[in-house]
Amino acid sequence: MTSETHLEIRGGTALEGEVPASGAKNSALKLLAASLLAPGGNILANVPDVADVNVMFEVLESIGADVTRTGDSVMIDVPTVPEPVAAYELTSRMRASIQVLGPLLARCGRARVAMPGGCNLGSRKLDMHLAALEEMGAEFSTDHGDLVAVAPRLRGRRIVLEFPSMGATENVILAAVGASGVTEIENAAREPEIQDLCEYLAKMGVEIEGAGGPTIRIQGRGPGATGLAPATHTTIGDRIEVGTYLVAGAVTDGDVTVRACEPGHLELFLNKLEQIGVEVDTGDTWIRVRRTPSGLRAADIVTLPYPGFPTDLMPQTVALLSLADGSSVVTENVFDARFQFVFELNRMGALIRTEGRHSVVTGVEKLQSAPVVAHDIRAGAAVVCAGLAAHGTTRIANLNLLDRGYENLTAKLGALGAEITRTT
Ligand code: EPU
Repeated sequence: MTSETHLEIRGGTALEGEVPASGAKNSALKLLAASLLAPGGNILANVPDVADVNVMFEVLESIGADVTRTGDSVMIDVPTVPEPVAAYELTSRMRASIQVLGPLLARCGRARVAMPGGCNLGSRKLDMHLAALEEMGAEFSTDHGDLVAVAPRLRGRRIVLEFPSMGATENVILAAVGASGVTEIENAAREPEIQDLCEYLAKMGVEIEGAGGPTIRIQGRGPGATGLAPATHTTIGDRIEVGTYLVAGAVTDGDVTVRACEPGHLELFLNKLEQIGVEVDTGDTWIRVRRTPSGLRAADIVTLPYPGFPTDLMPQTVALLSLADGSSVVTENVFDARFQFVFELNRMGALIRTEGRHSVVTGVEKLQSAPVVAHDIRAGAAVVCAGLAAHGTTRIANLNLLDRGYENLTAKLGALGAEITRTT
């Protein structure tokens, strides 16, 4: 299905200039959910104004919080007695709504959260979230599509995750705050967004250590997670947005600098850009890309949880590789249905063959404009990058998906010189 909003890009202009990174969507969403742990006025700064964040505001409001945005800062006034319910109308719009499960169990000992349903990236199960919370003493049942959780006494446990899932790690951390005793998560996700979450929790008064490594320890505060103080915190920069603008610069043979970001969060991605033939310079809080005169070269990519190559930058990088000299093999290890975007790139003249978790990208000289569809946020970003490089005007349907994750996309690309407009 496609939506009524479109993006039109007249490609072929080399992007030049500077653009600031927004706050990380995938951090802000969890920081907002974590706010439920501390009654009173929590303040988050650098919160991106994107559709997913607005859905999380509605989820928190339905739980009883007051959410007020002033510029990029958001005040979340959390009630003493939250209503532990998230309705299907909200969870079906954004899967990450499930991240309120952990804090609601910690605060209320029960929760009713509608199951999010299907997703364009593959099966995206919740089994690891639920198995870990069950080990801590929660009991789950389903009722007309809602997940009903009861956990009057969560117990701190050693939890070994099968896979370092971001969502499962976050839900366990947040629930563990309301457990008795220490919870130790082994094979925890190590993403910078997890570290950001743990820093926020520490500011509230949670004793937590190990974030950024494979073992995270949380000292529980017992039922109700009582005694936490509301906190003030600034969201980290969005490494995936940063990577997207860097690819946009490289694919158009441009010269783009992204500010307000942390180069250390993108180490492997930046190495890969250099391998592909992009000149990369970094400072403390900025990254600059330019294409080297020798042109783009093929390079293989294997996506892995952090610090591996991020799955959320794979589609954009494939757009870049589709103009490189030679053939690249791209292996996707995180999601089982992430390659739908290659059919859109192929409509634009790319030569990509997909077999299961692998794609072979054979570089072509030029891409051509075409009407294409954004299948998910990052698939949308890939066709945007391709459209910026292609000859002619590319029309991208499902702009609403890009709006879920990219703040001021048209203004930011416009500031770099792109000819880009939104149409309804
Ligand atoms: N998985 C399971 N069972 C579970 C949990 C996860 O099988 O209980 C599987 C998933 O199906 C998936 C893999 O494990 O195949 C990784 O899932 P993970 O839980 O790590 O991902 P997530 O928390 O659902 C977050 C981001 C995604 C990002 C992934 C991987 C948010 C809101 N979403 O999802 O971001 O791709 O981590 O880094 O933080 C995006 O921003 O466009 C996006 C999709």
